[in-house]
Amino acid sequence: MDYQNITTERKEAVLIITVTREKALNAMNKDVIAELQHAFDSYKADDSLRCVILTGAGPKAFVAGADIKELNTLTGVTGHEFSERGLRLMRTIQSFPLPVIAAINGFALGGGSELALACDIRLAADTARLGQPEVKLGLCPGYGGTQRLTRLVGRGKAMQIMLTGGMFSAAEAHRIGYVDEVYPADELMDKAMAMANEIAAQGPVAVRLTKELVNAALEVGETAGCEMEKQAFALTCATDDKNEGTTAFLEKRAAAFTNK
Ligand code: CAA
Repeated sequence: MDYQNITTERKEAVLIITVTREKALNAMNKDVIAELQHAFDSYKADDSLRCVILTGAGPKAFVAGADIKELNTLTGVTGHEFSERGLRLMRTIQSFPLPVIAAINGFALGGGSELALACDIRLAADTARLGQPEVKLGLCPGYGGTQRLTRLVGRGKAMQIMLTGGMFSAAEAHRIGYVDEVYPADELMDKAMAMANEIAAQGPVAVRLTKELVNAALEVGETAGCEMEKQAFALTCATDDKNEGTTAFLEKRAAAFTNK
């Protein structure tokens, strides 16, 4: 697929995906959603990759939401399809086999906030502004915000954010756990790359399984989740990487993992 609205760039084991619809503040229309879906689907099986960074082009926006021109034309029937398309992308990112870091370089509103919420770690520029302004448009969130934001920040804050539709500074978003770290805007990508490289240096099978287990913690009960952890732990014990990682520690050298 020839991308018109996103770019993909490999930096060794890290893939950077950038939404490049800068004139519309990277708002996600149907094409942006289709291209992101295609990119995540195609890189899923690339086992030389270790981490993904998702960001927006330009200094102003990560993603300023779903495209309001498209929202304006929706009916009850097409609204259902519209939401399903976006939800599918969010599920793809959340269940992507590798960690996905959102580098929130500016506005992350509505569907843009939901895109960041589907990622595993949210790093924000100090200039970023986040929120779920759908109610201002007479809409409720449609790409999973009511569910993921509530799990992340708790019921009261989620209600405040989604019922007022207000915008929150990066500092406030950090205080309530909406984003995980805040950096000066001009350092954001370097910090995101440093974290991605740090993740890339860990045991790859262990990283994949850990992501799955943390996601499972929000879906299953504690007993079932711990049972899954036991199975996954045993699986990592049977890998070459566990032998390499533990031996490297004992031999006081860096581990050379092989993803096996
Ligand atoms: N959809 C389509 N176009 C958008 C857009 C969006 N979500 N956000 C910004 N744009 C466009 C503007 O229309 C404008 O285009 P023109 O130059 O052609 O007029 C361009 O981007 C620049 O935007 P502004 O001139 O508005 O820039 P600003 O600095 O004055 O304001 C802003 C920035 C506060 C982010 C403002 O653009 C804004 O409020 N945008 C809408 C944010 C929003 O409501 N997002 C949620 C959408 S609902 C949703 O996402 C549903 C869902 O969950 C599935």
